[in-house]
Amino acid sequence: MRGKFISLEGGEGSGKTTAIQFIQQWLEQHSIPYIMTREPGGTPLAEEIRQLILSPREEKVNDVAELLLVFAARAQHLAEKIQPALDEGIWVISDRFLDSSYVYQGKARGGDVAVLDQLSRWVVGENKPDATLLLDVPVELGQERVVQRQHQDRLDKESLSFHQKVRDGFLERADVEPDRVKVIDASQSLESVKYQIEKQLVQLNNAWSGIS
Ligand SMILES: Nc1ncnc2c1ncn2[C@@H]1O[C@H](COP(=O)(O)OP(=O)(O)OP(=O)(O)O)[C@@H](O)[C@H]1O
Ligand SMILES: [Mg+2]
Repeated sequence: MRGKFISLEGGEGSGKTTAIQFIQQWLEQHSIPYIMTREPGGTPLAEEIRQLILSPREEKVNDVAELLLVFAARAQHLAEKIQPALDEGIWVISDRFLDSSYVYQGKARGGDVAVLDQLSRWVVGENKPDATLLLDVPVELGQERVVQRQHQDRLDKESLSFHQKVRDGFLERADVEPDRVKVIDASQSLESVKYQIEKQLVQLNNAWSGIS
């Protein structure tokens, strides 16, 4: 049976990388084979593209250039890592995926949604995640969590209004595709976030196994 594809989404400091560890524990408890990956990145070439996208630089990065770099990395990631794993029955858990493009390059940067839809059809096609867990936190709380981190990338350094658009953009994605995108209240304690995630995983796994 084909593996399941789950993506984690949310703004900076919302807790995606933390949530991935909870998912990992759950998959291991259930003896489900899986790989963890991330976007932009996931393969050597795609990780090089990630560096190009995220490194702070003097030169202004053109919005269309940023968008195409993200999709170039995604094409490589899907062809060389995600699809082969799913075909072997291995679950794929990705720290960010397609929704981040709609939110960062679309909503926050004002990119054309029709172009995003077209790129999505061309590059991702039927390979959308089976489920997406959206870690939702108020912008200020996310920012508080990231300032404790030493390293800041080009997008961490954006303004508060940019991060507010990011949060709103993700919640809109959940409104548009509620069956796929599940909102996790990530302002809660780690224990509560872990509980919410496990609850979603159980429900999803039951639905995928045909248990009602
Ligand atoms: N529910 C929570 N309660 C308290 N602290 C949390 C919670 N979730 C995450 N944190 C802490 O906040 C920080 C950011 O979390 P994490 O790295 O998981 O976010 P992220 O979404 O992966 O961020 P980024 O987009 O920058 O990679 C970490 O130090 C983490 O331990
Ligand atoms: Mg992270």
